[in-house]
Amino acid sequence: GLDVSKLLRTTGDVTYDIGFMNTAGTRSAITFIDGDAGILRYRGYPIEQLAQHSSFLEVTYLLIYGELPSADELAAFDNRLRRHTMLHEDLKGFFGGFPRDAHPMPVLSSAVSALSTFYQDSLNPFDKEQVELSTFRLLAKVPVIAAYAHKKSIGQPMLYPDNSLNSVENFLRMCFGLPTEHYDLDPELVKALDLLLILHADHEQNCSTSTVRLVGSSNANLFASVSAGINALFGPLHGGANEAVLNMLRRIQAEGIKPEDYMEKVKNKEDGVKLMGFGHRVYKNYDPRAKIVKATADELLGKLGGNDELLEIAKRLEEKALADDYFIERKLYPNVDFYTGLIYKAMGFPEKMFTVLFALGRLPGWIAQWREMIEDPTTKIGRPRQLYVGAPERNYPLD
Ligand code: ACO
Repeated sequence: GLDVSKLLRTTGDVTYDIGFMNTAGTRSAITFIDGDAGILRYRGYPIEQLAQHSSFLEVTYLLIYGELPSADELAAFDNRLRRHTMLHEDLKGFFGGFPRDAHPMPVLSSAVSALSTFYQDSLNPFDKEQVELSTFRLLAKVPVIAAYAHKKSIGQPMLYPDNSLNSVENFLRMCFGLPTEHYDLDPELVKALDLLLILHADHEQNCSTSTVRLVGSSNANLFASVSAGINALFGPLHGGANEAVLNMLRRIQAEGIKPEDYMEKVKNKEDGVKLMGFGHRVYKNYDPRAKIVKATADELLGKLGGNDELLEIAKRLEEKALADDYFIERKLYPNVDFYTGLIYKAMGFPEKMFTVLFALGRLPGWIAQWREMIEDPTTKIGRPRQLYVGAPERNYPLD
């Protein structure tokens, strides 16, 4: 019954908590993590069971609406999504404004931000039908925008979505297909991407999700909030880690560095070198998502024809790290992105698309968290305090 916010206000005290290590900024019923035990659940369902039995579409529904859908509910959800895949034709012109070698992440966040200008009939955060409409628009259009960003970066023509396909199939066809040829979908590829999207779908109050909530707490619309989340995800300490892992493995391979020598650099903190794909703010044990990815990496890379040498380097780094006091003391284990880059590469995606794939996975989580925030009557605008350490009052010099 203690109103902590009032207490802090009346005493004038603030909590100094760099990086919000110990601050819960919200209550939430979506995702549960126990970082010490390595547990992750969406709406109560263990990630291992969802990875084995569910689909990304079903997980999307579960995160947003709180329950698994019946077969009819899932079919209706899928049908409605397929009706929203088209982008306004003028929005396509937008892609021409970026340089040829533009990174697809800022292209994605810019285009998602621009959705606010094209779909002004679904911006009211307190109108349930409008929120529902912008939810469908985002879920259906973001994969299309992501595929366009990819095509733009490789200079190939963009394909229109084919609504006889589901969202994941459509995305793969739009990324790898050509207007002049029939694209044969590989069921293994579809299944593998679907699994990786499930594993990334939500992760409670991580940097990008907190960003989505913070922006949304000012009552900014869903498109604007998600666009901000995409920008937060771009950083190499967050979603950009999957791209950074592959760059690290390539560098080790190209320069012929022994994994143990690389580890020494990391431990000596030379040039700020980190073992990318290792460590996590919450998991102080093996990331349960990394366990699933690792278990499937060998099988998938075998089927998709991945780079065995890079996988071997990754495995050797992991083996060394898990036996090293530096990593043991700091409880540093592989996170979800240690092996995902290798799989994305084997699927045919260039490094620049890796974080975009993370964004596609995280999208339902962002939407579910934004909706939870906006529907919670206890929500207040996010407005942290600070400890002022600047100059004391001084007078403007008059001569
Ligand atoms: N390699 C080497 N040392 C590390 C690593 C790493 N990957 N991660 C943490 N450490 C060290 C730190 O240098 C620090 O050491 P110190 O006590 O000697 O100063 C100690 O471990 C604690 O690390 P912090 O950075 O304080 O932990 P924090 O919770 O702030 O950071 C983070 C977590 C950002 C994920 C960090 O582990 C990291 O930078 N990892 C590499 C990037 C990465 O893989 N990010 C993906 C995160 S998961 C995701 O977004 C899907």
